[in-house]
Amino acid sequence: MTDDNGFPTAPARRWAMKILGAAGAGFAGGLFSAPVTLGADWEPVDLLQRPIPVSGEKVPAVGLGTARTFSLDGLSMSGRRGSVAAADPLPETLSELRNVLRLFHAHGGRVVDSSPMYGTAEELVGDFARELGIENELFMSTKVWADGREPGIAQMTESMELLHSKPLDVMLIHNLRDWRTHYRTLRRWQEEGHIRYIGISHSRTGAHDEVERVLKAERFDIFQINYNILDTNADKRLFPLARDKGLAVEINEPFASGDLFRRVKGIELPAWATDFDADTWAQFFLKFILGHPAVTCALPATGDPEHVVDNTLAMAGGLPDAGQRRRMVDTMLAL
Ligand SMILES: NC(=O)c1ccc[n+]([C@@H]2O[C@H](COP(=O)([O-])OP(=O)(O)OC[C@H]3O[C@@H](n4cnc5c(N)ncnc54)[C@H](OP(=O)(O)O)[C@@H]3O)[C@@H](O)[C@H]2O)c1
Repeated sequence: MTDDNGFPTAPARRWAMKILGAAGAGFAGGLFSAPVTLGADWEPVDLLQRPIPVSGEKVPAVGLGTARTFSLDGLSMSGRRGSVAAADPLPETLSELRNVLRLFHAHGGRVVDSSPMYGTAEELVGDFARELGIENELFMSTKVWADGREPGIAQMTESMELLHSKPLDVMLIHNLRDWRTHYRTLRRWQEEGHIRYIGISHSRTGAHDEVERVLKAERFDIFQINYNILDTNADKRLFPLARDKGLAVEINEPFASGDLFRRVKGIELPAWATDFDADTWAQFFLKFILGHPAVTCALPATGDPEHVVDNTLAMAGGLPDAGQRRRMVDTMLAL
C-alpha cells in the first residue's frame, strides 16, 4: 500500500524485505533491471521529512548527491549540453544512473543536489527526470561556481535549462566562490521568482569559520556543509547558528566520500543498531546524521541502484537519541 503521497507504507525492515522480495533476482544479480513494484500489502510507515524553516515546506530527509557518480566526463561523453541522456539505446552506465534516479523517487526521495562543477550531472539528472516524468516532483538543488556577475548569470541560466527546472528550488554559492557578487544576483532572482531558496555550500572543515561569518553577515535560507560520524565539527557552531537564524541544513559527504565504508569493510554491524532500525552500515551512518535535529536533509551520492534504496530506507523507522549517537561515534573511533 502507498499513502496519499505515493510513499510506500511498511515498517523499515519489512519494507526492505518487500523490496528485496519483489526484486530478488535483480538484487542477487546486483542490478535492478526490471521495474521494482512496491507490493500491495504494506503497513503504514512514516518516511522522515523535515521542514525548511523559512517556509515550513517539508522535504524528505535523505536526498541524492551527484558529484562524481553522475559525472561521466571520463567516458568520452559530450559533457554539458551534449544530450547524453538522449542516446538510444542508453549505454549500460547511463541506464544504471537512470535507474538510480527512478528508484530514488519511487522510494520517497525528492531532493537532488548538483553543480556545474559535476560535469554531466545536471544534464543527466534533468534529462532522466523529464524522461521519467518526475521533473516537477523533484526538489532540485544546484550551485553557482564562477567568478564574476555575468559568468555567474550565464552558468545559472544554463543550469536551469539543463535541469528543466524553473523556478529552481535551491541555488547555492559553491564553496563561497565570489560569493558577494553572486549573493546580489541570487537575492534579485529570488525576488523575481526564478529561485525559491538561496544559500551557500562548503565541504572543508577548515572553512567552517568563514561559512559562519558569511551566514551571519547576509540573509540566506539554507546552507550545505560536510558532516559525518567521524567529522562532527559542524555541530559545534554551525548547527546552533542554523537553529538561531532559522536556516535549513543540507549535509554533504555523509559517508566521507565513501571512506566510512572502507573503514567498516568486513566488520559486522553492531546488533544494537536495530534499536533505531538501522539494518546496514549506510543506514547507521545516515541515521547518525539525521539524529541531529538541526539537519534538514543528508545528500548521499551513489551510482548503484541497490545503494540508493538502502540509503532512502534510512528515512524509515527510528532514529538514535543523543546517548545512542555518542555510542555510535565511540564504536567508529574504536575500529
Ligand atoms: N562543496 C560542495 O558543495 C560539496 C562538496 C562535496 C559534496 N557535495 C555534495 O554531497 C554529495 C555527497 O558527497 P560525496 O559524493 O563526496 O560522497 P558520499 O555521499 O559521502 O559517499 C559516496 C560514496 O559512498 C558510496 N555509497 C553510497 N551509498 C552506499 C551504500 N548504501 N552502501 C555502500 N556504499 C555506498 C558510493 O559508492 P557507490 O556509487 O558504489 O554507491 C560512493 O563511493 C555530492 O555528491 C555532492 O552532491 C557538495
